[in-house]
Amino acid sequence: MTEIKQKLFDAFKADHALLGSGFYTLATCLRNNDITGAKEIAVKIGIEAGPHIAFEEQAFYPALERFLTQEEINAMYVEHKKGQSLLQRIIDLDESEMLNEANKQAILSEVENFESHVSDCGELFGVMGGLSEPELQHLYDKLTDYKLRAPNWLSHQQDATLN
Ligand SMILES: [Fe+2]
Repeated sequence: MTEIKQKLFDAFKADHALLGSGFYTLATCLRNNDITGAKEIAVKIGIEAGPHIAFEEQAFYPALERFLTQEEINAMYVEHKKGQSLLQRIIDLDESEMLNEANKQAILSEVENFESHVSDCGELFGVMGGLSEPELQHLYDKLTDYKLRAPNWLSHQQDATLN
């Protein structure tokens, strides 16, 4: 593997591991009826995942257009949107109210859906093998740039200024 591919792969893998562990903790808090903990981790995910989500939406997914169908690409944007709404919904929960079982299960199943997205998305690195070195370098630079700018996922509105 070339150096740039390895660097991008490592950064990509680390980001996915962080996102995966955030959602795992979120699910654990919900299962334990720890609403305060769930809200805290939702806020933390918004901050931690913001740069990577922006990178995927603005740079990574567009680079995959050659390899995937438009439907597959669109589905990934929709899944991000659902993940974002889910986090916001958790943050907005009324702490004084215990979640009823049906609500809890509904939220947990959305958490699980996003966990599947994270693992599907992690697999996409293989598809990137078809990109040229300058394209990989461009993606790595974009990811680094988003990390410096640190946009919060919860305030992304498909923000054109993030380009
Ligand atoms: Fe993604």
